[in-house]
Amino acid sequence: MAEVRVLSAEDVAQVFTIADAIEAVEEAYRQKAEGKGRAWPMVYEAFEPGVADMDIRSGELAGSGLFGLKLTAWFSKNPAQGLPEIFGTTLLCDNGTGAPLALLNASAITGLRTGAAAALGAKWLARADAKNLLVAGAGHMSTFQVAAVLAACPGIEHVEVWDPMRAEAPEARVELMRGEVEKILSAAGIERGYEIVAVADGELACAAADVIVTITPATDPIIKAGWVRPGTHVSAVGADMEGKQEVASDVLREATLFVDDRAQSVSSGELEVPVKTGAIAEGDIAAELGEVICGTHAGRASDDEITVFDTSGIAVQDLAASKVAYDRALERGIGTTVAL
Ligand SMILES: NC(=O)c1ccc[n+]([C@@H]2O[C@H](COP(=O)([O-])OP(=O)(O)OC[C@H]3O[C@@H](n4cnc5c(N)ncnc54)[C@H](O)[C@@H]3O)[C@@H](O)[C@H]2O)c1
Repeated sequence: MAEVRVLSAEDVAQVFTIADAIEAVEEAYRQKAEGKGRAWPMVYEAFEPGVADMDIRSGELAGSGLFGLKLTAWFSKNPAQGLPEIFGTTLLCDNGTGAPLALLNASAITGLRTGAAAALGAKWLARADAKNLLVAGAGHMSTFQVAAVLAACPGIEHVEVWDPMRAEAPEARVELMRGEVEKILSAAGIERGYEIVAVADGELACAAADVIVTITPATDPIIKAGWVRPGTHVSAVGADMEGKQEVASDVLREATLFVDDRAQSVSSGELEVPVKTGAIAEGDIAAELGEVICGTHAGRASDDEITVFDTSGIAVQDLAASKVAYDRALERGIGTTVAL
């Protein structure tokens, strides 16, 4: 019999903040670079292509005594029945005994840990004097990207949000986002000055940006050749399945490339299509970000370099983040214990 702690989205939200996510994901990347964290091949199945699918991302975080998985199920017809479009569930297991420890609603963690990944790319690879952030994509995940970069990079003062699918600036979306970002930051006790504005012209916004985060499901790159000025850092986040690519191959070719996981980046991340078409080679990847965090590989080499960090999302992020939520929930008696 195993005692399993079950945590709802509300339980997780009580104990887990953006600051926790940044710390946990940094620790997960570090463990991966030290050989204590491993991401296993993703399992993907489309029940009805373009309508309903699921993926399972699994791995081990030996430094935290864990292995486990996150199952994300996307059923696009659900909202018509009053159900969420996405169900995310994380299972944590003890890597010494195999016993299941916790089952968590992953929704309260996914946005924060995904934002944390992009923010760590900016923290470790952007120029030290970076002030202007462009977030390309104005959907559900974009709020977390803005909040996480603001939390991890104290120098960022000005944020522009662009929706590549709209000719006009996403004013209404940004109005909502301002409140959502402030809520995420204040839950972590972060107070800082910044402004967030909606913009309509992606090319102009790229030319002014020191840091660009892409967070769309684009299959035709939205960041075009010639748009990214020397010295810019790009965190490419949206490409998490085969066929997606947000940054033009020409930009990738002139950039120094960092990834969260080499194998996944070229099998289902931002670099999958450019490697398959021969625009770049897998050997062009400079390092995993964890190697930069550990100091075993250099990060940015000069203020003129373009750096790109591809994060397609790996299980160690979810495991490390969920472990923090689990430990806090145990301490504070939050959640339900089930004997399995
Ligand atoms: N890397 C990770 O760990 C990770 C985690 C979660 C989500 N994602 C990915 O991030 C992306 C965005 O997720 P979301 O929940 O914010 O989506 P969303 O649907 O809420 O928002 C998508 C945004 O991109 C724009 N868009 C839609 N189709 C586009 C296209 N073909 N070209 C350019 N822009 C387009 C939309 O107008 C919107 O602004 C998705 O691809 C999702 O799978 C990645």
